[in-house]
Amino acid sequence: MNDHVQRPPAEVRHAGELARLRENDDGDRPPGWALSLRAARSFVIGDEKLGISRKFVGDPSLVDRALVTLATSRGLMLVGEPGTAKSLLSELLAAAVSGTSTLTVQGGASTTEDQIKYSWNYALLVAEGPSARSLVPAPLLRGMAEGRVVRFEEITRCPLEVQDCLLSPLSDRVLAVPELTGPESMVFAKEGFTVIATANTRDRGVNEMSAALKRRFNFETVFPIPDLDTELALVEAEATALLRRSGVGAPPRRDVLEVLVTAFRELREGRTGRGDATDRLSGVMSTAEAVSVAHAVGLRGWFLRGEPGTAADLVSCLAGTAAKDDPEDLAKLRRYLEQQAGGRHGDQWRALYEARHLLPG
Ligand SMILES: Nc1ncnc2c1ncn2[C@@H]1O[C@H](COP(=O)(O)OP(=O)(O)OP(=O)(O)O)[C@@H](O)[C@H]1O
Ligand SMILES: [Mg+2]
Repeated sequence: MNDHVQRPPAEVRHAGELARLRENDDGDRPPGWALSLRAARSFVIGDEKLGISRKFVGDPSLVDRALVTLATSRGLMLVGEPGTAKSLLSELLAAAVSGTSTLTVQGGASTTEDQIKYSWNYALLVAEGPSARSLVPAPLLRGMAEGRVVRFEEITRCPLEVQDCLLSPLSDRVLAVPELTGPESMVFAKEGFTVIATANTRDRGVNEMSAALKRRFNFETVFPIPDLDTELALVEAEATALLRRSGVGAPPRRDVLEVLVTAFRELREGRTGRGDATDRLSGVMSTAEAVSVAHAVGLRGWFLRGEPGTAADLVSCLAGTAAKDDPEDLAKLRRYLEQQAGGRHGDQWRALYEARHLLPG
């Protein structure tokens, strides 16, 4: 399955590591869990001794709190700015705790209860009426019946009435299927069932969520990576892996990435490394975005000229990312290149400054 899939789920990408953790796991497991809490923690933040890679870069105590929440009867709600690895963290936690991360609902304005709970195979429904055979389980029903983690991505994008269908599964641990009769009309959650939801602070907020549902979640905020070196190392590792998968024969240049990550951080925070105020872009300048720009820079360099990308490629790629939804942002970006890149030491800063005319408009 690994061969031609663009991005297999975490339990497939890291199957070897999960097997190793299971073998060496002598800790107690919460009921229904595939790993102990400590082994699950190692899976997410890494363990050098066992050769487990660090996958989520961030506060280990956040990961501890998240895991403890999953062992209680509350759901876990990960909130934060776009591109701070909320989805990645939820995927890793689900893979560690229940061995699968694919029981996932993608929230949106058109999400219906059918897509969350269950629907019907209409041919069978017409032929033999509602029965366990004609029932088509969706992630929530499967998670409850199998005792696994259900992921609910971007929950706040769903209509409020739809979000509320989580209420009785989370509080009473039961899902009613009124169309069926007898014992099949109630699905009781097995040990191990819980929900990890994610919500983006730029979308419609979690404030609008019903108070009843909010009470059934513990909230954790995922923050952007605080220091430059850590973010740079992550962007380098991720971009290198992505470029290799894209058939690019050269790793990204460290000095180009340094300029890229520095510029992203400064435009995100509205402050330079030296503490001077600068324009802050209204678009998203997240780590996830930095990774995808680094990928694009490498692709441009390699497929257009057979070399790793340069700061000039960076300018070309920035226009499509940084100044997506606001013409103001393009002007701010131009000002940044003129005023900030112009005054700095280093070949790549110089190249960035000289390529500023590549910005459109
Ligand atoms: N702290 C981090 N640790 C590991 N990877 C990170 C981190 N921050 C950003 N990334 C990068 O960002 C990608 C994850 O972005 P992800 O889609 O999970 O973010 P998100 O917070 O869910 O964003 P959105 O709100 O837009 O859905 C990762 O694949 C990785 O390349
Ligand atoms: Mg996400």
